Amino acid sequence: MLEPKIKQVEATLLAYKQEHVLKVLRQLPQAAKEKLAAQVEQIDFETLFKSIDKYTRLPVSIKEPIKPISFEDWEDYEEREQAAYTERGWELLRAGRIGAIVVAGGQGSRLGHDGPKGTLDIGLPSRKSLFQLQAERLLYLSGKAGKAIPWYIMTSPDNHEATAAFFRSAAYFGYSAKDCFFFQQNTMPALGLNGKLLLSAEGTVQLAPSGNGECFAALKRSGAIADMKERGLEWLFYYNVDNALIKVADPAFIGVAALHNNPIATKVIEKTDAEEKIGIFCLKNGRPAVLEYTEIPDDIKAERTKDGRLFYNLGHISIHLFKLDFIEEHADAALPYHVATKKMNVWDEGGRLIKPAEPNAYKLERFIFDFFPLASQLTVLKARRQEEFAPIKNKTGEDSPQSARKLVMELHRRWLQAAGIPRDELNGDFEISPLLSYGGEGLREEEWTGSLKFGTSE
Ligand code: UD1
Repeated sequence: MLEPKIKQVEATLLAYKQEHVLKVLRQLPQAAKEKLAAQVEQIDFETLFKSIDKYTRLPVSIKEPIKPISFEDWEDYEEREQAAYTERGWELLRAGRIGAIVVAGGQGSRLGHDGPKGTLDIGLPSRKSLFQLQAERLLYLSGKAGKAIPWYIMTSPDNHEATAAFFRSAAYFGYSAKDCFFFQQNTMPALGLNGKLLLSAEGTVQLAPSGNGECFAALKRSGAIADMKERGLEWLFYYNVDNALIKVADPAFIGVAALHNNPIATKVIEKTDAEEKIGIFCLKNGRPAVLEYTEIPDDIKAERTKDGRLFYNLGHISIHLFKLDFIEEHADAALPYHVATKKMNVWDEGGRLIKPAEPNAYKLERFIFDFFPLASQLTVLKARRQEEFAPIKNKTGEDSPQSARKLVMELHRRWLQAAGIPRDELNGDFEISPLLSYGGEGLREEEWTGSLKFGTSE
């Protein structure tokens, strides 16, 4: 980097009161100095400070009028409607119109798992990782459809290499490598609570993945959108990496989305506990929206109907279908940044590591559902919680690997019961391989094509 550029970076640092970075910059050897200067050059300080300023003017109050959003319940459809939706989904799968995107760039700081979250083994009898469960569900569908379902895997600079290496070492779980598209999301600098950039031990600015709402921009930048168009995709199935029950590319849901033909469709479940850490759906200013669980004002969060249900009870479980043309049109939308205070390791000017006991940093993230108001209408489909949602967020207790493992095995036990296996033969742990059954089908004795062993996965 040329000296005038460095001078410009120095001026920026002064203008935004980042003298501590300036001091470090001046002390660094040339190569490290250039690296830091290049990082600083990329920072959009105006957006950073504006977002934090808005956040610090808490408490959050929602000024726009909020109303319930309309939805349809899968269970309210007649059998022939369910069959028609499901068949439409299969048609699209057979025509190769569906891709899947997993957002796996998060840091999973609550879980404390060493490695990308998708590599986690939640202790099922098969010891399969979350990625493997997802891959096998996709393989089951694509095998039946006779068409590949391209899989777009969003990582962050923190976990990109480890994620790609995990897939390679597992031979992509039987997936074709050319149908797995790895791409990295954006980052934003983390700021101390005093508004100062946080530095790493090597004298670089600490960057953190800036939210799953970055995924469309990252799809575009990485060439993934071009890849999707080349393959003739129409819809992209979006999901979180950490839901052990995720029905990736669910044909029934695809059918509902396609026949309603709005730019976005989403699956919801009933939220019954006001404190559960899931967002809620509503109409905000007449537009579809999600209020994130960290930002729901107390009165809205706890409001109940006369029969005791939560008034806003459509829980956001991060399962969506986006039309490809919607993604392309809005990939560069300037979504707002949400700010949260987090604990982050920092290094002082002497290079000493400080592990904070209390939250010490602002982290900025864009949220996927901030694209929703850009669609005039959203298809909202209510599904059964016990078939769809086993999140893994914490090390132990609620929403942990143990609770998710239990939910998966309970569902598989119910499938076996429904398939006619007597209760007294269903003691112990059960797991059904996704390669054998996607949603409990094909398990009756007369339908067995392969071997079904109890106590193991396959
Ligand atoms: C998320 C949803 C919340 C929903 C809940 C359901 C958002 C903003 N919030 O909350 O409304 O009720 O899941 O379980 O989506 N990720 C990235 N890059 C990032 C940050 C996150 O790819 O920079 C990915 C994570 O790897 C994960 C997903 O996004 O797969 C959700 O992130 P997480 O931080 O776990 O969100 P929650 O707070 O649980």
